[in-house]
Amino acid sequence: MTFLEQIDKNRVPESVAIIMDGNGRWAKKQGKNRIFGHQNGVDSVDQVMEAAAQIGVKYLTLYAFSTENWNRPAEEVNALMDLFVEAVHNYMDKMMANDIRLAVIGDVDRLPQKTRENLQKSIDQTANCKRMTLVLALSYSSRWEIIRAVKQIAAEAKNGALDVDAIDENCFSNHLATSGMPDPDLLIRTSGELRISNFLMWQLSYSELFFTDVCWPEFKKENFYEAIVDYQSRERRFGKTSEQVTK
Ligand code: FPP
Repeated sequence: MTFLEQIDKNRVPESVAIIMDGNGRWAKKQGKNRIFGHQNGVDSVDQVMEAAAQIGVKYLTLYAFSTENWNRPAEEVNALMDLFVEAVHNYMDKMMANDIRLAVIGDVDRLPQKTRENLQKSIDQTANCKRMTLVLALSYSSRWEIIRAVKQIAAEAKNGALDVDAIDENCFSNHLATSGMPDPDLLIRTSGELRISNFLMWQLSYSELFFTDVCWPEFKKENFYEAIVDYQSRERRFGKTSEQVTK
């Protein structure tokens, strides 16, 4: 039986996040430069986005560029900025056909104007799509997001718009870049690294984690389905006992 056939369609995770890792190492193994790896990761995004939408995932969040990635060589950063624009432009037909909305989280003011403007066009074009939201984390890091939320909350408390006693988990979540989006049920990281790397640290509190040695350019639909099947074998207890959640 294929992994797709093993998926229980009634228990598909609502929200999946992915750390797409291993582009550089995969390219090096082919004797190519790192940018070649990123270019080959574009098709994996295409496939996983379609697979996720078709099995009923509602939010797919991809870690495409971290705030720390700005420290990479300028040539690689520039190539990635152009690649995001080109790839998203090429995804548009598939996104419209599959009713997929685009959203971006991160410190987007740091993106080059051309990248920002083109992404905004795609966000606008897909604004009414309802089946799934593809969230690209671009110039994103959890620490950036948490500091920003703390500053906003402090400012609102200072000017009297927010009562300090009203600050709870819900209030804090609403000040994050992911406000209004469900926390990931499942986090996937490719390429064998076992880290969270400053990604959705608040939101991943109760996520199931799936790590695979497959590098991102080789992570295709069937790999994604495998992660979903594995997720469906887990018992999610949210701090309760097994007896409490199974009765
Ligand atoms: C991590 O691999 C990957 C990135 C920093 C970029 C991800 C970009 C893509 C997959 C291109 C297409 C994406 C979109 C959203 C259109 P790495 O370079 O850190 O790999 P390494 O750890 O092997 O060096």
